[in-house]
Amino acid sequence: MANYQTLWWIGDATGQLAMIDQTLLPGEYREIRCQNVEAVWESIRSLRVRGAPAIGVAAAYGVVTGLQSVRNDAQSSFENRLAEVTNYLATSRPTAVNLFWALDRMKQNASLNAARPSTERHDLLLREAKRIDLEDREMCDQIGRHGSTLLNDGMSVLTHCNAGGLATAGNGTALSVIFSAVESGKKLHVFADETRPLLQGARLTAWELCRRSIPVTVICDNMAAQVMKEGRISAVVVGADRIAANGDAANKIGTYGLAILAGYHRIPFYVAAPYSTFDLSLPHGGLIPIEQRDRSEIACGFGKTTMPDEALAYNPAFDVTPAELITAIITERGVFPPSQVPR
Ligand code: MRU
Repeated sequence: MANYQTLWWIGDATGQLAMIDQTLLPGEYREIRCQNVEAVWESIRSLRVRGAPAIGVAAAYGVVTGLQSVRNDAQSSFENRLAEVTNYLATSRPTAVNLFWALDRMKQNASLNAARPSTERHDLLLREAKRIDLEDREMCDQIGRHGSTLLNDGMSVLTHCNAGGLATAGNGTALSVIFSAVESGKKLHVFADETRPLLQGARLTAWELCRRSIPVTVICDNMAAQVMKEGRISAVVVGADRIAANGDAANKIGTYGLAILAGYHRIPFYVAAPYSTFDLSLPHGGLIPIEQRDRSEIACGFGKTTMPDEALAYNPAFDVTPAELITAIITERGVFPPSQVPR
């Protein structure tokens, strides 16, 4: 079982959001508190809280913090602030659709209760954020249960980035599949891609697996082809930030390359994600907005200059894996081929 929680709410609707600062792991475990919506926005933007489902849950709680200043105000002031806060949080990161999905749910809840006094609406919004949080935990467990049937005793599983408990409110998506298989008695070995430039695989996935005593080997991203060729990988399981209607899936940069490698080596390639990650309004993955991040993450990662100042850097944070390279998508409702996403 996990003995860490990614994020949690403290107190009533006038309370605050607490989270693990993931930028410091694995060197330091520190819990931080966001006392206003600006702090929540900054935490999402700077990846203190990250991973598509966790971003959604953080944004939902962010709405509650943003409305604290107007909880005793008239309806119009509450409405104006709600629009301001949700628009603001929507600018924190563009790719994970869970962020927008959670903000939409909060807006819907507010409009459903539009006739009530602001204080009551605010309390109900905290209840909705907690519901999003709880649902995410339940979805993680169900994804784990469904996905674990795909893994056999003795398998070696490669994963990319971090789609574990740290990326969700619960046990994760891709890692939940692994946790669930291990809990059912299967022995697995995990290969974790380091995941340049921010090392979510080496820093966070390996941290989670070590805390659960699951054997993990970290490899640099450029080693995956060789490790597959050596016959060391039985399956690839990754998470997703947004899945389009045709089954194309956006995930951390490098996932697309892994899918090509897995296809070449005839290794099954699975994407694990809850329904909050599906964006059926987009017919294909080419329409998914790809976040571009700062040059410094490549040029001066973790404080060490690694390229000349004169050189340009290109830093897309995500890529899109075409549906045809995905063996199956693991969801809380079961495992199905990407062609069945619309259904
Ligand atoms: O930039 P990050 O760390 O937020 O990217 C996270 C990922 O790409 C995860 O694989 C994805 O969000 C799925 S998390 C269950």
